Amino acid sequence: MGMNARQEFTDARGLAVTTENAAAAAHLDCAIRAYCGFARDTGDHLKAALSADPEMPFGQTVKGYFLLLFAKRGLADKAAKTAETACELADKHGATRRERGHIEALSAWCRGDLVTTAATLEDLLIAHPRDLMALKITHYLHFYLGNGPAMRASIARVRHAWDETVADYGFVKGLEAFSLEESGDYGAAEVAGRRAIEINPSDIWACHAVAHVMEMQARHREGIDWITGLEAGFSDCNNFAYHVWWHRCLFMLELGDHDGVLAHYDEKVRSDQSEDMLDMSNGVSLLWRLGEEGVDVGSRWSELADKAEAYIDEHVLVFNDAHFMLALAATGRSGSQDRLLASLERFAAEAGTTEAGVAADSGLDLCRAIHAFGRGDFAGAVERLMPCRERLNGIGGSHAQRDVFQRLLLEAALRAERGPLAQALGSERTTLKPGSPWSWRQMARAYALIGDTAAAEAAQSRAAALRAGSRHAT
Ligand SMILES: [Fe+2]
Repeated sequence: MGMNARQEFTDARGLAVTTENAAAAAHLDCAIRAYCGFARDTGDHLKAALSADPEMPFGQTVKGYFLLLFAKRGLADKAAKTAETACELADKHGATRRERGHIEALSAWCRGDLVTTAATLEDLLIAHPRDLMALKITHYLHFYLGNGPAMRASIARVRHAWDETVADYGFVKGLEAFSLEESGDYGAAEVAGRRAIEINPSDIWACHAVAHVMEMQARHREGIDWITGLEAGFSDCNNFAYHVWWHRCLFMLELGDHDGVLAHYDEKVRSDQSEDMLDMSNGVSLLWRLGEEGVDVGSRWSELADKAEAYIDEHVLVFNDAHFMLALAATGRSGSQDRLLASLERFAAEAGTTEAGVAADSGLDLCRAIHAFGRGDFAGAVERLMPCRERLNGIGGSHAQRDVFQRLLLEAALRAERGPLAQALGSERTTLKPGSPWSWRQMARAYALIGDTAAAEAAQSRAAALRAGSRHAT
């Protein structure tokens, strides 16, 4: 500690925070809690903390995290400066080992090294398993590294330190729920998610985790009811609510409620046409799926494609790049697609960052496949996508989000008249998720392609029965 008035205050979970005054520590704790709840006033709490003590190292570090969570190149420099400031403040005023660990993690993230960032925070969590910020950020990083098992293990390692008596325990149950869901343990995920909702009905991440379980298990009607039953509690949530509405649209889409989805898209999912990365990928992913269903989406693509053109050189997350590619392909903007591909190729060749590695490993081929699909080269799309489809998890996001690319592959196989391949991919889908009408309709097309009319009809009627809600269908 320095020779000034700085001392260690503790947060609601007993962790030391170096600051000049207790108010700053309290505001920062509110900011972390608000972040876990996707609350709209998260930034206000952080501002209050930093105005109470602008020289609080952990406050500056959290500011850096928040900037990077926007996943925008334009904010990366600002985050890097914040990391430097935090470092200088820690030297000037002193900081705990935990706080220094966070600064190290933030600095690694600013260098684009997501793997080291996650590892640094995991290391920190061994000594401080109640560090909610570390837990939430590693959850996010493992998610965008496409590593469900790592998400699950991360929460499992700290479970010993959490129970009902610890502040914000509910959020940890929500994290646990989603980590279990992305690891395929749907039963345990639902139990954890429902427990989190019991503790806090406004825990939108927990609601979202259970919605994912229902998505993976094709419980469409239940999914709609689940979200609708909880949405009143999300009035103070930020734009993450749009993503939950997006999930509701996926359920509606499977039930064939196209008008409902379009209205929901306009009024909820894409109501403010923001440039938030998740908001834009929600929009792209939903319009693409509507297109697959043969729904005319009117002029809705154009604002997304315009924005995609503005983010051609982004590459903060390959996941976002691939969604921009979909928007450009859907609108036939071939020059922009060429430019995005060339830019991504340069980025992959630079190497040195986690996402450059992801681009080289699968992102480039994914974007080339989308490009091929967009210009009607379906055989080319299959050729690009088949070899890397098993590695697509590397681009991050959830199974439900990445499914848009697996669906594109199946559609490409059908249009390229690759009968046996379409049959195999359709079989994979209908086996893993037998309650999906869309998959059965695709399976029917695959059967028709290989000339098995009877099987095609059976698959088609199975799809219709599922959509109508027949119990016999499953
Ligand atoms: Fe989701």
